[in-house]
Amino acid sequence: MLKFLIINGPNINMLGLREPDIYGTENYRSLQQFIYHCCVQEDIEPVLYQSNHEGAIVDRIQAAYGDADGIVINPAAYTHTSVAILDALKAVRIPAVEVHLSDVSARESFRRISYPGMACLKTFAGLGFEGYREAVLFLKDYLEKNNPSA
Ligand code: DQA
Repeated sequence: MLKFLIINGPNINMLGLREPDIYGTENYRSLQQFIYHCCVQEDIEPVLYQSNHEGAIVDRIQAAYGDADGIVINPAAYTHTSVAILDALKAVRIPAVEVHLSDVSARESFRRISYPGMACLKTFAGLGFEGYREAVLFLKDYLEKNNPSA
């Protein structure tokens, strides 16, 4: 059974409260349930992790080495600043996919750069919760094609 680590960065725990016009009115608990169901439907074991701290996210990525088959990551604001998260993803070499709830390409110019995205196979942005489902399906398909024993 494939095991996916799903990482959500800073302020994603504030979903529902934070800028609902951009991020919607559903809270982080609903996002957790949504991701959990997407994975279980696909026969994937989900491990959900959220942190507001860059180093904690780096530690969690490192801890996934030899454990998780894939990583789905919404680095949130660290998307636009974190070479450390980029380097952690490169270090463990676990296939990763980036997700953003909002369409980062259509917002402020500082949101157009993604450091962790440089170590990801693909990015899904602007699809809300559905982006996580797309990411899970994409990773599963990628792993089945590239790792026949999966
Ligand atoms: C976000 C987009 C980021 O620019 C922002 O800092 C976030 C959330 C998204 O999911 O749309 O916190 O990653």
